[in-house]
Amino acid sequence: MNPNTTKRLNNGKQIPQLGLGVYKVPAEQVYETVKNALELGYRHIDTASFYGNEEGVGKAIKDSGIPREEIFVTTKVWNDDHGFERAQEAFAKSLNRLGLEYVDLYLIHWPVPTIFPETWKALEKVYKDGAAKAIGVSNFLDHHLQELARTQEVQPAVDQIELHPKLVETRTINYCHEKGIAIESWSPLGRATYLDDPLLVKLGEKYKKSPAQIIIRWHLQRDFVVIPKSTNSERQRENITVFDFHLDERDMKLLDQMDEGMRVGSHPNNVSIQK
Ligand code: A2P
Repeated sequence: MNPNTTKRLNNGKQIPQLGLGVYKVPAEQVYETVKNALELGYRHIDTASFYGNEEGVGKAIKDSGIPREEIFVTTKVWNDDHGFERAQEAFAKSLNRLGLEYVDLYLIHWPVPTIFPETWKALEKVYKDGAAKAIGVSNFLDHHLQELARTQEVQPAVDQIELHPKLVETRTINYCHEKGIAIESWSPLGRATYLDDPLLVKLGEKYKKSPAQIIIRWHLQRDFVVIPKSTNSERQRENITVFDFHLDERDMKLLDQMDEGMRVGSHPNNVSIQK
């Protein structure tokens, strides 16, 4: 595996398995952050209209000189833009802010109750029009996916959920595996809140890697798409230098056992239209 290892989505499109997340990267900092990541070899950038930084992401992509088709770009529709018409308008605005003709993946950011199946119709439309090469959801638990399945025409290609060793959404993961929906992990490092965990430190020493690299490797070997966020060049480099070692079965199991249902973000069942 190398930094540009891709995974095949259920519509045939390839997604680089490791990308850069830019949640909470301020608009004035995102240009440098993304530019640097692209120079280091990242080819997958995950943003959202809610992050308020799509313009800088798009400008960094353009200025990088890297052919557009070599970079995988994801953005998302925010909670107050749900509905068939609104979501299409929101998509057009995102494309405009990014300065792109298409995105590689467009996601429903959160399952806003009762209206998300209608919003999905808008995503299906932009997909059929070719302006999003794949569509998917974020923060959907298995019951949200089941509800969506009742009316969907296009199966989501991915479900992007909070996922890290202390939060493994087994039911949702099993459902997605069964349906061929790729899992993407957001806050894959648990926002760096437990990198000093003794097991992570011990495995870091064993493999001569940092705790963050151990976690990222765990995601890759579990077949998740992983989008660690860092604004720091050294840490960006560290996070992508994870293709030169392999965690053995036993250590993977030990990492699996860290699960304690610990969230760093909101619960998907408590979505409101708040900012
Ligand atoms: P920074 O941007 O200063 O590097 P997550 O992706 O799980 O949400 O985690 C993001 C947080 O983890 C950010 O605070 C980021 O800080 C920090 N972080 C990212 N990569 C590393 C790393 N390799 N080692 C330590 N902290 C990291």
